[in-house]
Amino acid sequence: MRRRFAPSEGLRGSVRPPSDKSISHRAALFAAMASEPVVVRNYLDAADTRSTLDAIRVLGAIVEPRDGELMIRGGGLRNANVPSGPIDVGNAGTLMRLLPGWLSFQLDKSFTLDGDESIRRRPVDRIAEPLRRMGAGFEARDGRFPPFTVTGAALSSIEYELPVASAQVKSCVLLAGLTTDATTVIEPIPTRDHTERLLMRARARIERSRLDGDGISTTVCNADELELDAIEVPADPSSAAFLIAAGVLVPRSRLLLEGVGANWTRTGFMRIIERMGAIALTEHEPPGSFSEHEPAADIDVSHGPLDGTTVEPDEVPLAIDELPLVALLGCFAEGETVVSGAAELRVKESDRIAAVAEGLRGLGGDVEALQDGFVVRGTGGLRGGHFDARGDHRLALLGAVAGLASREGVEVVGMEAADVSYPGFADDLARLSR
Ligand code: S3P
Repeated sequence: MRRRFAPSEGLRGSVRPPSDKSISHRAALFAAMASEPVVVRNYLDAADTRSTLDAIRVLGAIVEPRDGELMIRGGGLRNANVPSGPIDVGNAGTLMRLLPGWLSFQLDKSFTLDGDESIRRRPVDRIAEPLRRMGAGFEARDGRFPPFTVTGAALSSIEYELPVASAQVKSCVLLAGLTTDATTVIEPIPTRDHTERLLMRARARIERSRLDGDGISTTVCNADELELDAIEVPADPSSAAFLIAAGVLVPRSRLLLEGVGANWTRTGFMRIIERMGAIALTEHEPPGSFSEHEPAADIDVSHGPLDGTTVEPDEVPLAIDELPLVALLGCFAEGETVVSGAAELRVKESDRIAAVAEGLRGLGGDVEALQDGFVVRGTGGLRGGHFDARGDHRLALLGAVAGLASREGVEVVGMEAADVSYPGFADDLARLSR
């Protein structure tokens, strides 16, 4: 679907961005693993998180919508059903990489996971390696791509230092660790910690400690069951980031974004844009918090001028999904904006380094792709034109924001990709433009 986003005369009003995708995936998985029914409030209603509900259903959970909430009845940690065919993860990388952590200890049962064209290009060797070391079976196409099959076993403890800063890999190993004596994951650079917070909430035995430098060590031990009764999902800071960027870039804008997740492992983008001079007022959770709660805050955004900035490699995991927006903001900023240490962007829903550099150049930007990031030279704005979403939800949203802030407007090719995380984006923009 092609959709044109004309230059905006100002965005004004308040909106609650859609619920958090990362936390919704985890809420559904944890509820499916729990022995007692779990109520999930504000579960994200989007394509990715529908894939997770479908997956837990075929594994035996019962999902009942009730007064805008979900009641999920799982079968416990060790009782996943074997579905009659492959589990379809759709476009959801998080589902594809977390679910095998749970499946890896379903004794002698095999599960095949597959997904769409984009998911089939995303590597799974990063989870295969630790799961095999723990004793699970793992066979993948060409050794590293979906479809792949996990066979559950009695797992052994491991100590695993993440070779890539990935919350998905960390979460997979921590879930698998729930049936081992003591499994430790070491992350040299912190990544989002929603799984750890839920494990704490679920009364699993989990210990987190700070290492020298920025690193964190997390250990989980054998659990009989997960104890949860209700999970409340805040609004998604990654989806909010598109509205923040629109509010900052479009003259005469003033937006209030309500109830946005403020977990410090997700607010790297806020710290970057504040450094660029953007006016986005909110309460932050202090970096380094080991809370079991998911804090939320309102964000008050106004239009204002921007300076270029350098995003350091250790900031990358805490803003990974927002880095395309940093490139967009860089086109409007004074001076140069540089991102490095972000090679992971090449294996997201699309190659986001190539897509952002080529896409923004097509709109008049001066953007150079690096192997592990990009350099943007601010040119005072963007002309506009066509922008190909390449089947990637975050690119579709990026193209739309670029259109509002451009001089001539942007036609986004493949706008339907936005449905993966933010189905109502164009409607929210239309409402805020009135
Ligand atoms: C996610 C982690 C990130 C992020 C993805 C969601 C998660 O991926 O890009 O959109 O929910 O754990 P990696 O952990 O692989 O970097």
